[in-house]
Amino acid sequence: MSRLDVFIDRMVSQRASLDFGIAETAAMDGPVFELGLGNGRTYHHMRETIEGRDIYVFERAVASHPDSTPDDAFLLLGEVTDTLPQALEQFGPTASLIHADLGGHNLAKNDIFARKVSPLIEPLLAPGGLMVSSDRMYFENLTELPLAPGAVEGRCFIYRK
Ligand SMILES: C[S@@+](CC[C@H](N)C(=O)[O-])C[C@H]1O[C@@H](n2cnc3c(N)ncnc32)[C@H](O)[C@@H]1O
Repeated sequence: MSRLDVFIDRMVSQRASLDFGIAETAAMDGPVFELGLGNGRTYHHMRETIEGRDIYVFERAVASHPDSTPDDAFLLLGEVTDTLPQALEQFGPTASLIHADLGGHNLAKNDIFARKVSPLIEPLLAPGGLMVSSDRMYFENLTELPLAPGAVEGRCFIYRK
């Protein structure tokens, strides 16, 4: 499998899993959290697709496309290891949907980081809320859901509180 194949599988899976997560949580009114803005493609997709919910973005350094950059009021700037606990103080367990795409090319590093941030993410979700992630996460009390329709095995993971 080429790197292009892997990239395409990841993008297709991200969109399929996000669309599934957005539809499943559409009746909830709690905020949506985007962890890792990057170029802003998934943030832009969420903004285009989600109605009636605020979307907050967690990012250490904004470098997104101008069309895909959140207003300052919706940006939690800094390391997620700092901003996730701050968000718990600010929002409590209210998030309807959390999407995380924080990883880079080193899969072993991504896995270590996923283990570190899982306990910081878990308490932010409201009951019934979903977490969509490009990396396998390590939650104590969330249930992993089957692959979203159209997603590729191992490229995206979905969990429900
Ligand atoms: C793969 S990119 C996200 C791409 C995005 N989903 C898109 O569609 O354009 C990962 C982003 O996560 C951010 N990031 C990684 N680790 C972080 C951390 N510990 N705290 C805050 N941001 C982090 C990086 O700066 C980078 O912008």
